[in-house]
Amino acid sequence: HLLSCLTLVSALFPGLYLPADGLVPIEVVVENRLLGTTPVVHTSHVKYRGILLGALRRLMESNMDFKFTYTEDPDYGPYLESVNGLAGNDEDHTYWELLVKKPDGTTVRPDVGIGCYIPSENEQIILNFTRW
Ligand SMILES: *[C@@H]1O[C@H](CO)[C@@H](O)[C@H](O)[C@H]1NC(C)=O
Repeated sequence: HLLSCLTLVSALFPGLYLPADGLVPIEVVVENRLLGTTPVVHTSHVKYRGILLGALRRLMESNMDFKFTYTEDPDYGPYLESVNGLAGNDEDHTYWELLVKKPDGTTVRPDVGIGCYIPSENEQIILNFTRW
């Protein structure tokens, strides 16, 4: 899916700006209003022009308090299945919604999943357990 997301070309030709270590700081927030828990904020990094899935893996490897699983949809690619052992459920109409809070404070819902979304510097990636 790396190739299908066309990240490879931009990864090979990163342009003028590249952080010294090739890592871009982001935050990953786990939010669950359905359970009424306080959102947990993790600081993480993504490779410059790297995909969100990579950043989530990087975070899971470095942080005992963050775990996630994903499944591969044949049409839409990888999507988030569970966070910290909690999975969305068809009967309950629950799922993990992917939201992105930009540094200017606006929150958007990316039109691509974790396998294609490319986080920018200082974005807050919100994994929001919610209902559909
Ligand atoms: C997360 O989902 C809840 C509903 O479960 C909603 O009220 C809340 O606004 C969402 N969080 C964000 C950051 O949009």
